[in-house]
Amino acid sequence: MKKLLLGTLFAGVIAVGAACSNNNVSHNSMQGHDMSNINMKEKNTTKNSSQQLPLATNTEVLTGKEINLTAKEALLKINDQVKLPVYTYNGSVPGPQIRVKQGDHVIIHFKNELPEPTSIHWHGYPVPNSQDGVPGVTMDAVKPGETYTYEFTATIPGTYWYHSHQESAKQVDKGLYGTLIVEPKNEEKVDRDYTLVLDEWMSKPNAESNMNMSGMDHSNMGHGQMDMSNMGHDMSMYDIFTINGKSGSAVKPLKVKKGEKVRLRLVNAGYMSHKLHLHGHKFKIVAADGQPLKDPQPIKDELLNIAPGERYDIEFTANHPGEWLLECHGDMKGTDGMKVKIQYEGATNNTDKSNAKEDLPTVDMTNYGKHELGSFTLDQKYDVEYTMNLETSMGKDGMVYTINGKTYPKTAPIKVKKGDLVKVKLVNNSPTDLHPMHLHGHFFQVLSKNGKPITGFPLIKDTLNLKPGEEYVVAFKADNPGNWMFHCHDLHHASAGMVTEVKYTDYKSDYKPKPNDTTNKGE
Ligand code: C2O
Ligand code: CU
Repeated sequence: MKKLLLGTLFAGVIAVGAACSNNNVSHNSMQGHDMSNINMKEKNTTKNSSQQLPLATNTEVLTGKEINLTAKEALLKINDQVKLPVYTYNGSVPGPQIRVKQGDHVIIHFKNELPEPTSIHWHGYPVPNSQDGVPGVTMDAVKPGETYTYEFTATIPGTYWYHSHQESAKQVDKGLYGTLIVEPKNEEKVDRDYTLVLDEWMSKPNAESNMNMSGMDHSNMGHGQMDMSNMGHDMSMYDIFTINGKSGSAVKPLKVKKGEKVRLRLVNAGYMSHKLHLHGHKFKIVAADGQPLKDPQPIKDELLNIAPGERYDIEFTANHPGEWLLECHGDMKGTDGMKVKIQYEGATNNTDKSNAKEDLPTVDMTNYGKHELGSFTLDQKYDVEYTMNLETSMGKDGMVYTINGKTYPKTAPIKVKKGDLVKVKLVNNSPTDLHPMHLHGHFFQVLSKNGKPITGFPLIKDTLNLKPGEEYVVAFKADNPGNWMFHCHDLHHASAGMVTEVKYTDYKSDYKPKPNDTTNKGE
């Protein structure tokens, strides 16, 4: 039983962490235009006979057309009390920020130094299907010690991210993610460009295994045969929330100067939605899932909800000197840790206070920005129409998350041909679960919510969050041939069934999984 083994491993390593708590880890920093303090690698290594994990380093920014990424283990110091064994790209969590220019042909040399197979998926990026990184669907998982080279042309600017797609519920949870920023050719310059990656962690991962496993016979479960997600996942076990791999006062403040234009790229790499509140400033949402919004109106003291897999870029002018918070609202145990200071140069007053429990209005993206017609309308003709009923039910090994009553790979694919116009209605029938649904390789336009047409700027997304009872209609053009996953980005739900595929019937893949290969676990 994989989770139980992991639990045991965690326990061992936390002990090691405590033994070297005087190691000084400097804070993670991702400042696109200020890289001075990003590239200092620290080579602190824990000394122990059974486990030798190096401390996670700072997140680097990698530019250029050839990028090297190595997946490897490390020990992440999340705050002063907690160190967790993690999986990293290049030794950091988040992994390096890959920053390229629109039009660049990017080559990524990937090496797997983890003890298990893995892969990289480019979330939100319309790469050729062969580069999509889904083991068993577009490639074989990269085995320990092996290498793989990804290549694609960065055609569309914006904020994206990358992560493992092999046993992703577990591997992304352990830290295998980083950001991909494609700078537009004619970039409007901002003075500060910060990327903030949100995530949740379990300070006691083994407690969860024990709880879920109580009363079960573990002896005959092979690796991967059952996942704890199949037994229902208790989100309250995620008791530490992080920004860029750090929690609470360990999160490095964002420096600004009066008058500067500041862009924050918010990326949710976790499995929970987070509502962020920017204190003291008006801000505009300038992009959703990397796609620019036109004429966004300034808003203040409204919460921006960021669901798993989503990205929002916000901009504000630093016109209110002092020290302010950007913080998560809510009342979960971890909420308090997801906050970062915005520190004006020379600011001495430290009067801003957290109001994380206050219930503020949430920005409604379906009526945000100037209303315009997008490429698609509700009543035009479509070549393919598909309805996705998203449900939660009890399977024989625990909870399952279904699409039209089926779990992957038994779900019916959305069959398309190149050039087809496709309309998908998504309905969340689960009584309490959120389903942030993510389509690979394409962007879709959101046409309606709960039967009402979108009244803001056309919302172009790759990840759409459905709350219980909600219904959305989206449309896209089948313009990127291949076999593409469409799944819930609460990856526990995906691993327990909530996955389907958009399959081009006129696409011939060069990739054929070997029959009976049990290595690939792409969902
Ligand atoms: Cu972010 Cu199928 O992935
Ligand atoms: Cu879900």
